[in-house]
Amino acid sequence: MIDEKQVRDLLAKVPYPGFTRDIISFGIVKAITIGSEIKVQLVVSTNETGVGAKLRSSVEQALKELPGKPPISVLVDVQAPVQSSGQGPTSIEGVRRVIAVASGKGGVGKSTVAVNLAAAFAAQGLKTAICDCDLYGPSIALMCGTSERPYADEAGKIIPVESHGLKLMSLGLMLDDDSPAILRGPMVTRYTQQFLRDVAWGDLDVLVLDLPPGTGDIQLTIVQTVALYGVVIVTTPQEVALIDARKAVTMFKKTNVPILGIVENMACFIAPDGSRHEIFGSGGGAREAERLQVPFLGSLPLDPAVRIAADAGFPIVLSDPANPASLKIMEIAGNLS
Ligand SMILES: Nc1ncnc2c1ncn2[C@@H]1O[C@H](COP(=O)(O)OP(=O)(O)O)[C@@H](O)[C@H]1O
Ligand SMILES: [Mg+2]
Repeated sequence: MIDEKQVRDLLAKVPYPGFTRDIISFGIVKAITIGSEIKVQLVVSTNETGVGAKLRSSVEQALKELPGKPPISVLVDVQAPVQSSGQGPTSIEGVRRVIAVASGKGGVGKSTVAVNLAAAFAAQGLKTAICDCDLYGPSIALMCGTSERPYADEAGKIIPVESHGLKLMSLGLMLDDDSPAILRGPMVTRYTQQFLRDVAWGDLDVLVLDLPPGTGDIQLTIVQTVALYGVVIVTTPQEVALIDARKAVTMFKKTNVPILGIVENMACFIAPDGSRHEIFGSGGGAREAERLQVPFLGSLPLDPAVRIAADAGFPIVLSDPANPASLKIMEIAGNLS
């Protein structure tokens, strides 16, 4: 006699098309009925054609392993994803403020600033989550010291992981290793929209979004989908970074996202002998903020301790709150909340 667990165990090996997650943990298996035949009912919400057929054939294939090869019937109910009502960005249920952290260029410390800002909000008593929206170079989980994977509940909602008092989610985490390369244009848009709606964020004061560098599909989708409280732009002080920061500011202004201000990162290095070294120049962030008529939020020092803390998965504001970078980030967070 075949029991439900045997069927469930086999279904737990079937990945959702394009993902590494299996269909059980995705929460799309609605019913399993054992009788003269084995009936499996799936409910998926997608606009993508072919997903239903793919699922049916991979479930049928997987269930061939059942002893005695009983007849299998697979019913896939494909529903169109719920569209947000009306046009334009909407708020995320239960989330008071969504703050995006953006930059024109990669490697300027955007993720570092995003994680530390989130940790600073949490340290100030705010219920905080951080979402890594950088599909092509996710780093938030690493910087928060976790490799735990989120799972989906019965209703198909994704439950974020927790670390250092922060809820954590990563856009890239639900995709398999090959997907980012092929995920372009309309697919990025659809995936990003669905993702942001499908996470069970719970009740939050602040949701920090670590955006990918630049002004591409993901940034545009996010500003068109989610009503942002505002965006923080991270730059380093030198001209090449400032040029790109300017482009980012322009894009957000055009899409009516409030610019909360510019953070200048890696501004000056203080050597062990106390001497100051302005490796990427100085004052660029403040000058640019003035030129663009947006607030200047502050300048963070270049300090190996910041990098070491990030690599160790323990944001500096938590591991060394007395560090000048930590003090500055706490001050910036205080001004934003
Ligand atoms: N103020 C800083 N001092 C020292 N290292 C830093 C600082 N900010 C960032 N870093 C390091 O620089 C590297 C790039 O930072 P990251 O936050 O990943 O940049 P981005 O997200 O903009 O690509 C990381 O190794 C990070 O630890
Ligand atoms: Mg990054």
